[in-house]
Amino acid sequence: MIEELNLVRENFISESRSIKLTKAAIEQLHAKFLGRKGTITRFTDRLKNLSKEERPAFGQELNLVKRFMEDEFERMRTAVESTDEPAGDTDVTLPPRTEFRGHSHPLSMIEKEIRSIFGRLGFTAEDGPEVELDYYNFETVNIPKNHPARDMQDTFFISDSVVLRTHTTPVQARVMESRRPPIRIICPGRVYRKDTPDATHLPCFHQVEGLVVDTDVHFGDLKGTIGFFIHQMFGQDIAARFRPSYFSFTEPSAEVDMSCIFCKGKGCRTCKNSGWIEIMGAGMVNPKLFEYAGYEPDRYTGYAFGMGIERIAMLVYGVNDLRLFIENDLRFLNQFA
Ligand code: PHE
Repeated sequence: MIEELNLVRENFISESRSIKLTKAAIEQLHAKFLGRKGTITRFTDRLKNLSKEERPAFGQELNLVKRFMEDEFERMRTAVESTDEPAGDTDVTLPPRTEFRGHSHPLSMIEKEIRSIFGRLGFTAEDGPEVELDYYNFETVNIPKNHPARDMQDTFFISDSVVLRTHTTPVQARVMESRRPPIRIICPGRVYRKDTPDATHLPCFHQVEGLVVDTDVHFGDLKGTIGFFIHQMFGQDIAARFRPSYFSFTEPSAEVDMSCIFCKGKGCRTCKNSGWIEIMGAGMVNPKLFEYAGYEPDRYTGYAFGMGIERIAMLVYGVNDLRLFIENDLRFLNQFA
């Protein structure tokens, strides 16, 4: 009988190695050897027929084989459960699990688009510090101490001479100081103003500044550049309009409007029935700035412009509250995927 048991053990080993590891096949094998009518169970029944002397030795042997098989089944079952394959019944008609993919923030997408449009006109992008000297943020762009223009922008002061830049215009000053014309740059970046957050104000937002300095640069060049930008960004049918304005760093200065992209100039709530939407400030570089840079004011002329990235993004995407851009609410952000 011991030989018989050994044979059963051998059989079990070869069968358990050759079966396909699926739940069903494992349970079938289990029934064959350890089930109620299984081979091992039948050995247990035959134990009764053995003599008192033979019984303990065989019983022990039988228990060893049984435990060996139980262990093997345990091993096979965990092997099946740890694989991703559902036991032999993969549903090939299930749609594949879609990968989660991130995407750029809407403000980054607009900034990229602005960079690309001006890139096509030969502008390169420049960077500057956000924690800026009062000297570059105000002095060199012609806003001396006690000048009323300082009140146009509420400033976060770090110390008497250091501020969080209130606009990207100091980058103009830095570039002019370190380089000779021709200059053709844009400077996108974060700026700060002491404002209470509401639908149209944030204490931290983004601007893109543009600066061109060369011989024979005139206001027509500025109009052409801005017109090209507006057409590329908002469509060929959108018109630009320049209104006289004041900036200390440009003379003459203008506020640029474009015809309302929502009502096409007919008048609606967004344009307050005027048919026009204000989108940036611009003008011819004040020769005073050339003095700081050491350029000859009678040789060079230039133009500059500055716009808010949030403002452009609100118009492009029809967003009516600035705060949505910084709240990181996925229900909002996922619409831009
Ligand atoms: N610096 C101005 C602002 O922050 C924008 C501007 C830039 C206007 C360049 C004219 C020329 O409002």
